[in-house]
Amino acid sequence: MSDREGSTNAAVNFDGPTKRAFVTGVTGQDGSYLAELLLSKGYEVHGLIRRSSSFNTERIETLYQDPHLEGTRLFLHYGDMSDGSMLARLLTRVQPHEIYHLGAQSHVRVSFDMPEYTADVTGIGTLRLLEAIRETEIPVRFYQAGSSEMFGAAPPPQSERTPFYPRSPYAAAKVYSHWITVNYRESYGLFACNGILFNHESPRRGQTFVTRKISRAVANILSGRQEKLYLGNLDAKRDWGYAPEFVEAMWLMLQHDEPGDYVIATGETHSVREFLDEAFGLVGLDWQSHVEIDPKYYRPAEVDVLLGDASKARDALGWVPKTKFKDLVRIMVEADLEAVGLRDKVLQGVSN
Ligand code: NAP
Ligand code: GDD
Repeated sequence: MSDREGSTNAAVNFDGPTKRAFVTGVTGQDGSYLAELLLSKGYEVHGLIRRSSSFNTERIETLYQDPHLEGTRLFLHYGDMSDGSMLARLLTRVQPHEIYHLGAQSHVRVSFDMPEYTADVTGIGTLRLLEAIRETEIPVRFYQAGSSEMFGAAPPPQSERTPFYPRSPYAAAKVYSHWITVNYRESYGLFACNGILFNHESPRRGQTFVTRKISRAVANILSGRQEKLYLGNLDAKRDWGYAPEFVEAMWLMLQHDEPGDYVIATGETHSVREFLDEAFGLVGLDWQSHVEIDPKYYRPAEVDVLLGDASKARDALGWVPKTKFKDLVRIMVEADLEAVGLRDKVLQGVSN
């Protein structure tokens, strides 16, 4: 940790042709994959991290340890989306060429419990960053992490032409961030893009999102650590993709000739129930014997079906999803089995 603390305030050499990226939310699922991608492309990456009483840098730990990434540069800076003056100071120091704004209170259910905080961080936080860009006059390209949650109750399939109908404080805050980003593009000529990303998952997915909750439960039940899995609405349908592919789309948007807004999705939708079938089925378990419904996981208003049409991204950016639903579930379940030391044993048992 001492190295990391050192790098937080290290003097940075700004000379040379190296591209610099500033990433908010670098400690999250997407931030960690994006940082990896940018480092592999030779970028110098500056990430915003929150001060926390315990370590919150687990997902980017390997970026310090991987010998293949040695010589590349990742700098971490303390800050928060609620602190605008700090953002401006940081941009002045870092002078980034590209900003990827992923930092947010990203949990939909939690946003009903903390609506004001979510509006401040997930909504106004974006304005603070845009204002910091305007104040510092840095000629930067800006990516805003928009969400399919903004479509909410709009009937599927959803594309860039579908009107938003947010169904949670989180989604309403993201709609604000979307339009304020459009506004800064139109008002000040900022190269600003909104990615409208449908759900994307991975072994690094936060443990309270439904897919990871299920894949961890499979491993925990098999290893005797957990008996029951408590869930909410099993009928909700989501267009679930693979996170490492989705962060590539963020980068592609900022490399395009013109700024724009893009839906990023797989074009397939599956219910939570289907995810359960697939995940428990992989290890030969019947989920009905382990899952119980707990009403506390229901939301005051639900988004029933998300199904994205990403043809604009395919045509303009050449982006296409590769990982299919069943492969995604397998990747997640295998990673959680590996974490409890059961991967090989369980998969051999199932194939015999
Ligand atoms: P995540 O794993 O929850 O990560 C969120 C990141 O934001 C973490 O680094 C977190 O820091 C940081 N953060 C939270 N509050 C902050 C604050 N007040 N100030 C500064 N940073 C703060 O989310 P994700 O899945 O990677 O998603 C990345 C972004 O894409 C989010 O904006 C999310 O809303 C959006 N999005 C996600 C999906 C998806 O399916 N994953 C789809 C569409 C859009 P800590 O590590 O300290 O908590
Ligand atoms: N989290 C959670 N926990 N969700 C559950 C549960 C449970 O126990 N049981 C059922 N669900 C249902 C939710 O009601 C929802 O319909 C669906 O599973 C997916 O929930 P999440 O995995 O929490 O994801 P989300 O779709 O609400 O939000 C995610 O995707 C958005 C993009 O559409 C987040 O990553 C958002 O940040 C992102 O914007």
